[in-house]
Formats: sequence, structure tokens, C-alpha cells
Amino acid sequence: MARILVTGGMGYIGSHTVVELLNSGYDVVIVDNLSNSRVEVLQGIGQITGKHPDFENVDCTDYNEMSNIFAKYSDIQAIIHFAASKAVGESVEKPVMYYRNNIDSLLTLLELMKVHKVENIVFSSSCTVYGQPDILPVDESAPIKPALSPYGNTKQINEEIIRDAAYADKNIHAVLLRYFNPIGAHPSALIGELPNGIPNNLLPYVTQTAAGLRQKLRIFGDDYNTPDGSCIRDYIYVVDLAKAHVIAVQRMLERKAETNVEVFNLGTGRGLSVLEIVETFKKVTGVDVPYEIVARREGDIEQVWADPRKANAVLGWKAQATVEETLLSAWRWQEHLAQQA
Ligand code: UD1
Repeated sequence: MARILVTGGMGYIGSHTVVELLNSGYDVVIVDNLSNSRVEVLQGIGQITGKHPDFENVDCTDYNEMSNIFAKYSDIQAIIHFAASKAVGESVEKPVMYYRNNIDSLLTLLELMKVHKVENIVFSSSCTVYGQPDILPVDESAPIKPALSPYGNTKQINEEIIRDAAYADKNIHAVLLRYFNPIGAHPSALIGELPNGIPNNLLPYVTQTAAGLRQKLRIFGDDYNTPDGSCIRDYIYVVDLAKAHVIAVQRMLERKAETNVEVFNLGTGRGLSVLEIVETFKKVTGVDVPYEIVARREGDIEQVWADPRKANAVLGWKAQATVEETLLSAWRWQEHLAQQA
């Protein structure tokens, strides 16, 4: 079976994707510099799958080290490129670091793909490229809006770099996957989201508050033009998201695409408000989540949810999990972490 290079494979979405790849019979080499992940993730992957992927603790922006990886694993047939910094607020404070990390890593991969004749790449993009869409749900033909943060800009720039590279070299096949809001954890509760320090994202903040590690969730604004006044997002189960990567890789390897760059929204097609998420979490877990309403967070968009019909039709992929199952999985993971502590 083909070998897949997974950059950032120790991270949240990366580790869930590695599990699905291994379960589908692929060989995997993970490259990750552990800048926002822990080496114990490998144990979780091993326990779930009974398999032990190769792991290289290397920074994807390091051309020489990456060159060694491509030489060592000469059977790599496709790359899934997750490795990136992803905190919106931090990117505003450290833009140069974000541009260096997120763009250099892609350039390094594209250069080495050429040298080593690796033709396939899946890129982790984001619905952030749509900004606040004019039409909801948003489909892949919606215009790209000016990025609201350096982080968002790196996703847009990287999409353009891949398009240009694939235009110039038709041997390159790329799939750009635009994720909506991934949440939840593997049903085994052996891998999940492991934020460093105070979480920026909603779900880890909710589970940590429910666990008593944080005093109160702060809900950023209840005066938006939405039914309950809080922001609306399309929350997608991380395992469903991971499975879409396996399908995308398979499709590339089988050369089924009509064009050498394809783009897909990965979402459920359903928007939920922050307050709905909190109330549903409380209902399914029976655990309270104290919260307060505070001012809007700078850079937040009001509402966005996906039109996932292209991925449904072309990839034959559809988000399966209910939000209840997903939220419960996030809580099981939090409980697992508490037992480890
Ligand atoms: C953001 C980015 C997304 C990126 C993701 C990665 C934008 C528009 N979105 O998603 O592209 O991939 O981060 O980290 O740039 N909330 C609270 N309290 C909290 C935390 C969040 O009320 O403590 C609210 C937010 O206001 C938002 C929702 O929860 O309405 C989701 O926030 P978050 O999980 O941070 O994701 P996004 O901002 O949607």
C-alpha cells in the first residue's frame, strides 16, 4: 500500500487522520516538530490502530532535514500537509513568525516534491478564506475575502502558491480542503485536542470549564444579528474530517480528478450558535458550564456554515456524527486527560 507523508501528524486533526490512514491500510510517516503537540500522541495512535507509524521530529521549514526525509522514505506517494501555526490572535502579534512557518514549510515541500517526483498533496485550508460570506451556506465558488489575520492570510497565500505550482507543472495534483470548525475526539478517547496553555478555541475552553480547570467560559458577544445573538459556526466531528482526507488521497492516487487542483468544503451544512453548543454540551454530559457574556472578540465573523454538497457528491463523503455524539466525545477525552493528570 502507498506511503503517505503526514506533516503535523501529531497534532489534533493530523493524529486523527493518521489513525484513519492506518486503518485503511496506508503506510504513514509523520513529520512533526512537536511545537504544539506531545510525543505521547504516538502511543494513542498505536493503541487505537495496533500499528506504529514512522515518526520524524523535524521542522518542515528545514530544507536539509526534509530532504533527508524524502531520501529516507523514497516510497512516499502523497503528502497531507497539516503542519502550521494556527492561533489567530498570536498571528496578529507575531506575523513574521506565522508567514515564515506556514509559508516556508509549503515551499519546502513543493521544492522537494519536484526533486523526488512526489506528485500529490492535500492542503489543510480553512473556511477563514471566505471571511464573512455574502451568501450562506457558503460554497467553494464564493469569493475569497481579504484575510482578517496573518494566520488567515497564510491559508489564502498557500492556496495560491499551490494553484500556481500546479498550473506550471501539471504533474502536481493538489486537493485544498477547507475545514469549518473541527471538534470532538476519537471515540476511544485515546487521542484528542491538546491545546497548550489557555485554549483559544471554543470546545477545549468548554470542556476545561466543565472539568473545573477554568472558572468560567467567556462567550464573545450576544448582540450579533443571529437568532440568539451569539456567533454561528459549522462544527464538524474531527473523525469525519479525518476520513475525508483518506478519500481525497485515494482519489488523487487513482487520478480520478478532472482538474489537477480540486477544492472542497468540509463541514456539516448546519450552523450552530455558541449558546447552542454550550446548552447541548450541558444536556448530553449532565455537567454544568458556567459562562458569562463578554464583549465581541476582535476579528470574529458573525456567522458561517458550509455548503458541503460538492464534497458529498464528488468525494462521496458526508459528515456522519451528530453534534451530541461529537460533544460527548470531547467530554470523554477531557475525562481521559483528567485520569492521566
Ligand atoms: C478560527 C478561525 C479558523 C481557524 C481556527 C483555528 C477565523 C474566522 N476562524 O475559528 O479559520 O481555523 O480559528 O484555531 O479566523 N468563542 C467564545 N469563547 C471562547 C472561544 C470561542 O465565545 O472562549 C466563540 C467565538 O467567538 C466563535 C466560536 O466560539 O464565535 C468559535 O471560536 P473558535 O473555536 O476560536 O473558532 P473560530 O474563531 O471560528
